[in-house]
Amino acid sequence: MGEKRARAAIRATILAVDDEPRVLELVVEMLSSLGPFRVLQARTAPEAFEVLSSEQIDILLSDLFLGSYSGLDILHEAKAANPDIVIIFMTAQPSVEGAVAVLKEGAYDYLVKPFRRDDLKAAVERGMEKQKLQRENIHLKEQLALYQISEAMVGSVRVDDVLGLILDFVLKEFKADTASILLLDPATRELKLTQFRGKTRDIQGSYFVLGNDPACRSVVESAKPKVVNKSSPLVDGSPRPRIRSMVSYPLLAKGQVIGVLNVVRTETVNYFSQGELFSLGIVASKAATAIDSARLYEELESAYFDTINVLANSIEARDRYTRRHTDRVRYLTEMLAVQLGFSGEKLKEVRMGGILHDVGKISVPDHVLNKPGPLTKEEFAIMKKHPETGKKMLEGIEFLKPALPYVLYHHEQYDGSGYPYGLKGEEIPFEGRLLAVADTFDAIISDRPYRKGVPFEKALDELVKFSGRQFDPSVVNAFVSVWENHVLDLEFLATGKYLDLPVEAASSRK
Ligand SMILES: [Fe+2]
Ligand SMILES: [Fe+2]
Repeated sequence: MGEKRARAAIRATILAVDDEPRVLELVVEMLSSLGPFRVLQARTAPEAFEVLSSEQIDILLSDLFLGSYSGLDILHEAKAANPDIVIIFMTAQPSVEGAVAVLKEGAYDYLVKPFRRDDLKAAVERGMEKQKLQRENIHLKEQLALYQISEAMVGSVRVDDVLGLILDFVLKEFKADTASILLLDPATRELKLTQFRGKTRDIQGSYFVLGNDPACRSVVESAKPKVVNKSSPLVDGSPRPRIRSMVSYPLLAKGQVIGVLNVVRTETVNYFSQGELFSLGIVASKAATAIDSARLYEELESAYFDTINVLANSIEARDRYTRRHTDRVRYLTEMLAVQLGFSGEKLKEVRMGGILHDVGKISVPDHVLNKPGPLTKEEFAIMKKHPETGKKMLEGIEFLKPALPYVLYHHEQYDGSGYPYGLKGEEIPFEGRLLAVADTFDAIISDRPYRKGVPFEKALDELVKFSGRQFDPSVVNAFVSVWENHVLDLEFLATGKYLDLPVEAASSRK
């Protein structure tokens, strides 16, 4: 109890270093009399380095020369251990050059031996005041940065985006060289490297970043962070940057470990300070929550896609002449979109539009939908309603809004001869112009009861022939490029079986 109270009252931890035992004894005595300080001591530089790497030292009071170590060596080591340490050097001979050099590099002050108790007191007090201001400033900056990352994460709904934001933030704000996030596979309980930033090769301990380290496993098991600091950077002849400090934080969502955040600094920077470790803990906690929400969102979205697929399939089940039409149009539209530079969210909207474009056919009676011959004028009038019916069906569902332009405008034609509105050229939303090309291509290649499907190459010739009349030339050009690049999965178009697809399209099979 008494010890606890004493510790609570301690104003600072001071390390005094001098190789002359009598001087050291005197300095320690003076410091002890100045106030409730915790005073540690060391006689050599290596001894001091050991203390610096294992204890949180606020003030270092050191002789300017310790054996073969200069003031600068000592300063660099102390700053590495704790960036906001206050360093006061003591020197027997007033060597101005030496003092100026260490002040330039970040020492706070120097005292010329022998000095009086009051001189020491004044230097320590001023140093502590400066440190207090510095720490408050750092704290404010950290708060601001944490606020910014929280805001950014709230705005992201994709797990990948959230992970990227966290890692970019960690590298920048915590001056780390490498950071990675490993997520736990709920089924196998294995950690999987999900994203990383920075150097991963050519640093010793890359196994740590990649998660192949018992330390990461222990973080998962204990749900507690682990900090590994490497002591004095003694030269080991290795040309690779050496790990200075490694931190592995558990990502906890709803009390469960869902992964780990690993952060690494190499020898060029300092250890992580207590304040930084605290902030990293906050980042890890916010990150875990954001990952959890993003996962929920993705699950929900995938459930939505399953539902709209069921909806689209139920229409196809009635329409025996256009089996798999939806699937092929969805695929072709996505391939065109990729060629035109769509990615991410935009590409998902394309998929949604492809799947749902004919959803309004639900209102077309069987005898019209399945008629084994060309439609009469009246029947065609019924058929022509399907874009607007589809739009009405979907417009109340927020999540499906991006699909609406595909549904409503896919039968408009570039020259204004299409339906339902007879829009012309750029009046037709691009989604409609895009889907129209894929939709028509599929209609040309498909068998009908009254005619055989046309071979792919001839169908492409048709598209080119009507480019600028029925179709937007930019979309037809994209189709020609896709064709010439040999990226279309012709086997899939012919049989419905997938072969090797380009990554974007392959990732969108669902
Ligand atoms: Fe249609
Ligand atoms: Fe269609």
